[in-house]
Parts: sequence; C-alpha cells; structure tokens
Amino acid sequence: MLDYENLNLVNKSFENEFASEFQKFLNKGWYILGENVARFEEEFANYNNILYCVGVASGLDALIMSIKSLRLSSDSQIIVPANTYIATIISIIQNGFEPILVEPDIHTYNIDPNLIEESINKKTKAIMVVHLYGKPCDMDKIKKIAQKHKLAVIEDCAQAHGAEYKGQKIGTFGNFGAFSFYPTKNLGCLGDGGCITLHNRKQYDYLKMVRNYGSEKKYFNKVIGMNSRLDELQACFLRVKLKSLDKINNHKRKIAAIYDKGISNERIIKPVRITNCKDVFHIYPVRCERRDKLKEYLLNNGIKTEIHYPVPPHKQAAYKKRLKKYRDYPISEKIHDTILSLPISYAHNVNEIYKVCEVINKFK
Ligand SMILES: Cc1ncc(COP(=O)(O)O)c(C=O)c1O
Repeated sequence: MLDYENLNLVNKSFENEFASEFQKFLNKGWYILGENVARFEEEFANYNNILYCVGVASGLDALIMSIKSLRLSSDSQIIVPANTYIATIISIIQNGFEPILVEPDIHTYNIDPNLIEESINKKTKAIMVVHLYGKPCDMDKIKKIAQKHKLAVIEDCAQAHGAEYKGQKIGTFGNFGAFSFYPTKNLGCLGDGGCITLHNRKQYDYLKMVRNYGSEKKYFNKVIGMNSRLDELQACFLRVKLKSLDKINNHKRKIAAIYDKGISNERIIKPVRITNCKDVFHIYPVRCERRDKLKEYLLNNGIKTEIHYPVPPHKQAAYKKRLKKYRDYPISEKIHDTILSLPISYAHNVNEIYKVCEVINKFK
C-alpha cells in the first residue's frame, strides 16, 4: 500500500541531526524562549528576506495574533476565501470580528481577486489571503485593492513555506505572514508550532510581548497577552529542517512535474501552473466529477489519497448559521465535491509516482 504521507519516513532523513540537537538541548536545560527560538526566528526571517519573525505555538495562533495586533474596532469585517481551512475563519471569529467569505477562482483554488471589491464596505478592515495548497495568490491585484480601500493584508502561509510570487517569498507582501509548522507542512516540526513574519518594528515588539503573557520584563504585564510561544525544542528541529526546505520543496515540484506530464486521463483536472509563481505543492490537488469513485478505485489499487477538504466552512455544523448569511458559495462547493489530493511527500520516490500515474490513467 502506498501511503498518502508517512511522516516517520519524512523525518527519518533528519534523525541523526535531530538526535544531536536534542542532546545539546538537554545538556543546556533551557526549555522556553531560548537561543534556538531566537536563532530560528532570525534564520527564517533571512530565508524569507524580511526583517522580523516571531515564533508562536501554532499556525492558528499566528493568525489570531496577527489580527489582534491590528487593534480593530469591534464591528470590523475581514475578507477571507470561502474554501480555506477552518483555522483562517476561526482566527477572525476568536478575535470577535466577522468573516466575510469570498469565492475562490475555480482554476487556482485561491481567492478570486475580481470578487473581493463587491464585498468591501465601511466595516471591512482587512483581507486575509490563503496561499492554498502551496500556490501563491495574485498578490499584485490583492495589494492594489488593499491600498485603494486602506485595508490590512494578512497572508495565511500555513501551506506555502518558500513559495514565491514574482521572485518574492510569500509572507512578505502583507502586514503579516502567518505560518504553521504542523508536522505535515512542507516545513513541519515534531509537534505544534508557528510563526509570524512582519516588517514593522512596533508590531514585532508588541507580538513578542503578547506571546509571553504580555510581558517584556518578567512579571510585568504591559499589554494583555497569552501563552503562545514556539517551543525551544521544536525550534531545534525546525533549524535542522529549514536548511533542507528548498530541497523538500524541489522534491515536491519534481513529483508535481511527473503528475503534470504523466496524468493523461481526461476525467482528471490537474492543477494549473501560473507564470511568475513558484508553487511549493504542499498538496497536489486534482479534480474529478466522480471523486469518491476515484478515491475508492485508487485505494483498491493500493494508493491512499486525502480530501482537502470534504466539507466547506459554510456547511460546517459550528459555523453554518453564521457564514451562510450573505450568499451562496457554489464554486467553493464544487471544489469541495470534486477535489482529491494525490501522494506528494518528501518520502515518495519517483517510481511510486509513475505507478500512481499509470493507475490513474486507467480509471474509467
Ligand atoms: C491554511 C491553514 N491555515 C491555518 C492552519 C493552522 O495551523 P495549525 O494547525 O498549526 O494551527 C492550517 C493548518 O492546518 C492551514 O492549513
């Protein structure tokens, strides 16, 4: 059976370095906000060519804290793609603001910039874009709209570490880039973790306080804070893996190129390629009208797949009353009903991927 993803195998290639970093960590005896967090923040900021990075406890917290630092009025609305992972929407609701869902483009699966302006009104304060599946959003168009209407931009980069739009790393276009280091991500740690990338010194100082009970100095609380620190131990592992992030992304691109070329079944819609964009293929999403049958067929032929995601946010039990208020979301529903993620991980070898192409081409 071919796994969709085998994290044990993915992390096996880093085992020796992990062990040696863990030994140093143990010898040092410093567990929270130590040298490894500080060094990782510096290294990740350098990798992305941005001034600041703040390590936090998860991707969701990175989104929540980014919104928090905008200090918006209580009736604020924030624009967000209708087909995102639920975390993006939760981060708006957790801050007490209203998420306004905008449909994605049926080809890129990212927010359709042509539909954003019709959802903007006096209460709109920010646009949250999500570089879904590892593909950068159309940042030129989005920034133009944001500038015209004086809106903040938050980039949800949880699935797109290292992706580039016109030669510039994502996470550096908006006010904040929010990253997740959840184990399955292209840059994943061995637990939970996240970070925020940003340009602004004042917001950097604020976020560093917020993540640590609102303190700059121990036991003195300058602002209302939370406990959301990137673990020192996870920072050790992330520093090891960051050195290989380009290698991981290149491996995924190589697999994507094999799928692009090797899948010829006309029932399958492959992901589009966008000029000037460096996609990092966190996921290789195909679409098929008979998606459930395709998934079953692949499983019967020894290939595991995943669905990202089976139910759109506006149909989720917890949110459907709140999010259905304004309009229907037929494009998002179409994507959710037809999408399927094929195996594409650092641990897969090219022969396994050729085999997937061969099997998928025989699907009727
Ligand atoms: C698009 C997106 N945003 C946010 C998150 C939240 O990240 P985390 O699970 O680290 O909180 C995820 C993670 O699954 C994600 O895929």
